[in-house]
Amino acid sequence: MKRWLLAVGVALGLGALAQTGKLEIFSWWAGDEGPALEALIKLYKQKYPGVEVINATVTGGAGVNAKAVLKTRMLGGNPPDTFQVHAGMELIGTWVVADRMEDLTPLFRQEGWLKAFPKGLLDLISYKGGIWSVPVNIHRSNVMWYMPAKLKEWGVTPPKTWAEFLATCQTLKKKGLEAPLALGENWTQQHLWESVALGILGPEGWNNLWNGKLKFTDPKAVAVWETFGKVLDCANKDAAGLSWQQAVDRVVQGQAAFNVMGDWAAGYMSTTLKLKPGTDFAWAPSPGTSGVFMMLSDSFGLPKGAKNRQNAINWLKLVGSKEGQDTFNPLKGSIAARLDSDPAKYNAYGQSAMKDWQSNRIVGSLVHGAVAPESFMSQFGTVMEIPSCAT
Ligand code: GAL
Repeated sequence: MKRWLLAVGVALGLGALAQTGKLEIFSWWAGDEGPALEALIKLYKQKYPGVEVINATVTGGAGVNAKAVLKTRMLGGNPPDTFQVHAGMELIGTWVVADRMEDLTPLFRQEGWLKAFPKGLLDLISYKGGIWSVPVNIHRSNVMWYMPAKLKEWGVTPPKTWAEFLATCQTLKKKGLEAPLALGENWTQQHLWESVALGILGPEGWNNLWNGKLKFTDPKAVAVWETFGKVLDCANKDAAGLSWQQAVDRVVQGQAAFNVMGDWAAGYMSTTLKLKPGTDFAWAPSPGTSGVFMMLSDSFGLPKGAKNRQNAINWLKLVGSKEGQDTFNPLKGSIAARLDSDPAKYNAYGQSAMKDWQSNRIVGSLVHGAVAPESFMSQFGTVMEIPSCAT
C-alpha cells in the first residue's frame, strides 16, 4: 500500500479505506445545479478514496427528464446505486408501493436519525412500518425573488397578496415593463400555480385539496385558476422556452421584477452568480402566503438490487450526517433537514429560511413530490400545457 494511502487510512479508520469499487449517484443536479452535490461527492471521496464515484446526472429542472430515465432503468433491472427522490408521495407512491426500495430503518436506528430529523419529515418518508429514504435538505417552494435596487427604481414594493400583485403588475406595465413576472418552462408554471393556490386557498384549503375535502370543481378551487390566468398575463410570452435559471436571470438583469421559484434560486444567485442575499437580491413569501412554508425535501434512497450496496449505504450515511448536510445545503439554497445544523454556515437567506421553518405553518409541495403521487402530477402537467399554449 502506498504510504500516503496508508496515512489516509489511519486518519479515516481502515474500514473506509478498504472500500473499493464504484458508486453511481443518480440525480438531476447537473450544470448550474451541480455545486452542492459536487461538494458532497468531494467529501465522500475524502472518506472513501478507493471508491470510484459516478455522478450520473440528467439535466432538467425538477427532474422532468431524470425521473423518466430513472423509471426506465428501474423497470429494466438496472437501478443506480442510489438516486435523488422527493420525500413524500413521489418516493412512497412510486417506488415504495412497487416494492423497489430497501427499508432503511436499521440505518436510521444505527445513526441516531430517529431523533436527528423532525417527526413530520420522518412521517413523509415512512410507510407501512418502514423508512424509505434519507433526506438531505428542506427546500421552500413559495418564495418570490426580486432585486431591491430595481424595485426602488420602479417605485414598487413586493406585493403581499395576489390582488396586490396584479395591481403592481399594471403599475409596472405602465412604466414600460412588458412582463413584470419572469416565467419559465411548463414545470415552473406548475410551480407558480402552487404558490397562487396556497395564497388563494390558505394552508387549510391547500391541505383539503389533497385529503379530498375540497374538490377541484369547488368554486374556491376554480377561483385559483381565475387568479392564475390573470397572473399569467403578467408573464413573458416565451416562458415555454426558458429554464428556471433563465427566468431568474430575467429578474437579475432587470428585464422583469419578480420570479416565483423554490429557494434553489437562492443557491443559483449566491453560489453561481455570486450575488449577495439581502443586498443584491431579496425575497418574500409568495403573495398571500406569509407565515406558511411550503416545503419539499430532496432525499436519497437505496433501490433493491443496487450493484454497490455498501458504497451506497456509506453515501447515505454521509447524506444524513451533520457534516454532509452543512456542506451541501449552504451551497444549494436549502436548509438542513437535521435539527442540529449550524446556522453560522449559512448565508442571510438560509438563516431566514431556518427561522421560518421553525415558526411557520408547514404544508407540502405538489410539484416537488410531497403531497400527491407522480401519476397525478403527470396528468396535472398535461392540463397545465393548456394555459402555456394559450400564451
Ligand atoms: C426540485 C428539487 C430541487 C431543485 C429543483 C430545480 O424538484 O427538489 O433540489 O433541483 O427541483 O431543479
